[in-house]
Amino acid sequence: MKNIKLAKINAARRALDFIKDGMVIGLGSGSTVNIFIKELSNFVKEKQYIVSVVPSSYDVEILAIKYGLRISTLNENPMPDIAVDGADVVDPELNLLKGGGGALTREKIVDYSSKKLIIIVDESKLKESIFVKPVPVETLPFSWRSVVEKILASYDCSIELRMCGKGKVGPVVTDNGNFILDVYFKDKQHLPSEVNVNLKLIPGIVETGIFSNKFVDAVIVGYENKVEILTR
Ligand code: A5P
Repeated sequence: MKNIKLAKINAARRALDFIKDGMVIGLGSGSTVNIFIKELSNFVKEKQYIVSVVPSSYDVEILAIKYGLRISTLNENPMPDIAVDGADVVDPELNLLKGGGGALTREKIVDYSSKKLIIIVDESKLKESIFVKPVPVETLPFSWRSVVEKILASYDCSIELRMCGKGKVGPVVTDNGNFILDVYFKDKQHLPSEVNVNLKLIPGIVETGIFSNKFVDAVIVGYENKVEILTR
């Protein structure tokens, strides 16, 4: 059995090499970023660096506060020096699928606004296509049924409204007050950029979990005993 936790720690630690004194750091969300936050907090204390972070979710904001990091906002720092984020899938061209934690919209805004984007994943995230997993689509609650009908009219797929696992009944409500649709595409050969654009033309869709490789500077892939850095 592979030690995925260790692989994530290795990727998160390697990302510290990109951190410099005075930086504004965009933070994605998810378990790998959570590890990064803890490592970053120790790192900046040790080096006596002054950095601030722009969180992409309430989850990450709470953790960053817990670890004593200085919190900033995108309105205060509209172009962070760097963003560090995780991913659910990385394809061979370094396109990403994100949104397993429902934070895709703010993640995409923070990631795409930053001067550099570093993705940290464990080796299990490398796949042939982003469509091996359902594509998360953040949608206004007002029109989620019409969005479902429009996607079904365009693609051979099935769609699920994401429901809360525990702690609340009903659908997942994002940090932006929206619903998440998980779209299972039958065809795994679609072009990610094309699907992203087509989905975003549907009124009511706020954002998709398809992240373009154009914004990705490096993917740090963690293994149990090493890291690899992928660039295009
Ligand atoms: C959050 O919505 C996601 O985009 C996460 O960045 C992604 O799911 C990666 O999470 P893990 O680091 O927990 O695998």
